[in-house]
Amino acid sequence: MNGLNGKLALVTGGTRGIGNAIARALLDAGARVVVTGRDAAGAEKAAATLAEAGGECRGVALDVSDFNQVQEVIKGLEKDLGAFDVLVNNAGITRDDVVMRMKEEDWDAVLNTNLKGSFACAKAVIRGMMKKRGGRIINVTSIVGTMGNIGQANYVAAKAGTEGLTRTLAREYASRGITCNAVAPGFIDTDMTRAMEPAARDQLTGQIPMERFGQPEDVAGVVVFLASDAAAYVTGQVIHVNGGMLM
Ligand code: NAI
Repeated sequence: MNGLNGKLALVTGGTRGIGNAIARALLDAGARVVVTGRDAAGAEKAAATLAEAGGECRGVALDVSDFNQVQEVIKGLEKDLGAFDVLVNNAGITRDDVVMRMKEEDWDAVLNTNLKGSFACAKAVIRGMMKKRGGRIINVTSIVGTMGNIGQANYVAAKAGTEGLTRTLAREYASRGITCNAVAPGFIDTDMTRAMEPAARDQLTGQIPMERFGQPEDVAGVVVFLASDAAAYVTGQVIHVNGGMLM
């Protein structure tokens, strides 16, 4: 499949996990891809590994929670490469605890990375997309944004907030040919979920009709669809990818 030939995509947090699989799938579909990570060495290494398997990939350091850095780095990339066609807001962190014990700094860190980071990146790419009269913004949210989850008030609030951001971006820029959608993964086998206790993983697997955690590629395929011409009339939607855990 090479439906994204010539398109330029930015994937935040593309150094591992779901973001890395999204970058791989976008490259396979013919896009040029920039992946970002928190440090330059990690981002460059991930990009080199991705490019080795085929495609044009660049890695840059970008802390999405730093609003000014996001504006500067994306401006610099656009100067070099041109305006982006696709933005995938994937970077995300967790700092779990029940509300009674959750520290203010853990609330702020999660909201600043997961929600404000998506706003900052979208704001930085929109002008370029408007000039091109087209673009795709795809936000990675989570099943828990709909369900709620014990111990994740900060994360759930950020993901639910990102879905509101998605619908607003969709309405603000639809007439300019820019779509904005969210992909809400269920439980996916990555470093983020490998940090869980085995008993908690088993208990969750029992709630998934497909009886397994998803793979990063299960999410990446939906992102490629949303970035492609096939999804030209899809905007403001949240597409759940969860093995049937939430229906
Ligand atoms: P991960 O922990 O394996 O990877 C997260 C990526 O985000 C890493 O590349 C990391 O460097 C990057 N990142 C973190 N903070 C950053 C910052 N301030 N600036 C730039 N990059 C930053 O996580 P995973 O599982 O691949 O998650 C990716 C996305 O999918 C996240 O938004 C997460 O919330 C979401 N998600 C994951 C699920 C899962 O079960 N693994 C389920 C639902 C959603």
